[in-house]
Amino acid sequence: MTDSSGAVSGAPATAPLGKIMLVGIGPGSTEHMTQRARDAIAEADTIIGYVTYIKLVADLIGGKEVIRKSMTEELDRAIEAYERAKAGKKVALVSSGDAGVYGMAGPTYEVLFQAGWTPDSGIEVEIVPGASALNSCAALVGAPLTHDFCAISLSDLLTPWPVIARRLDAAAAADFVVALYNPKSGRRTRQIVEAQRLFLRHRRADTPVAIVKSAYRRRERIEFTTLDRMAEADIGMLSTVLIGNSNTFVREGRMVTPRGYANKYELDNGGATREGEKRGRSLSTGLLGWIEGLREDLAAGESLAALAERHRLPADYLEAVLADTDTGEDTPSTEEAGAEA
Ligand SMILES: C[S@@+](CC[C@H](N)C(=O)[O-])C[C@H]1O[C@@H](n2cnc3c(N)ncnc32)[C@H](O)[C@@H]1O
Repeated sequence: MTDSSGAVSGAPATAPLGKIMLVGIGPGSTEHMTQRARDAIAEADTIIGYVTYIKLVADLIGGKEVIRKSMTEELDRAIEAYERAKAGKKVALVSSGDAGVYGMAGPTYEVLFQAGWTPDSGIEVEIVPGASALNSCAALVGAPLTHDFCAISLSDLLTPWPVIARRLDAAAAADFVVALYNPKSGRRTRQIVEAQRLFLRHRRADTPVAIVKSAYRRRERIEFTTLDRMAEADIGMLSTVLIGNSNTFVREGRMVTPRGYANKYELDNGGATREGEKRGRSLSTGLLGWIEGLREDLAAGESLAALAERHRLPADYLEAVLADTDTGEDTPSTEEAGAEA
């Protein structure tokens, strides 16, 4: 059962127990905290969090039980929350950014499921969304995430390095804009160097990089650099590193990743639609147009292997696409035209 606030609740067989609220407090300034986050903290009997996050909400927690934990005590925080909720308390577990992005939401559900919790067991769980570091850092530097992007954490505390390296390599090869979380700490200094090494295998040395430290906090610091100089920059535990894709540029101190309008419209000619393109329709190189082009290239004598290499896609995928007789529906719609905006 889900109520209007998005809370997962059950119809308890007995008297209701407590509630666990996983509260994303945003980047750290009160102005960037949502109203629901404030209300959830106000509603709570007990506040649990990493000491730094507790400090960020200090003016909202007067008169409440406050449990301060160290960075590494994530499971302890979740267990404490569960124990108190079982005793009928309303507990706010505070996370910076969003609790579901490298935050407390995952460990809490793991602890709950381990203890046999179900949505009907009487303990309500609510996740209160907050602006994650990538949202806050992007807003401060311009519009770097307006095309496909991904987040990768460089923390190898719980993830083996080969897993992280494979994700970095794949994201770099696929031209994603990438937000690197947990890029460096006093002890983990080499991970950012290795990330740079992997990215330089696929991206130009002058690819724009923005490093945002302590976004929307007292010691906020923004640095623009390039991929080849990234590892020399001042990066710490409170930094997020944004690496642009092959189209990202920096102009007037703003890092921008184009949305793709230039593929369809002549931006320097009053926005006229380019030849072969139609407003509200997929690009001529969109799925259906691309398949048509593949058929033409094959008919003109190009081999499947050559096409696979040119498009950097597996030959068996091209084969499957060409064998599929579904012609798809490509009718213009106002919804699609709106999606371009
Ligand atoms: C354990 S993760 C927590 C992420 C958080 N749940 C979120 O959604 O933003 C910690 C990492 O988040 C990033 N981060 C969190 N707050 C930040 C801020 N105010 N400015 C820059 N980066 C931040 C840093 O990369 C930091 O190493």
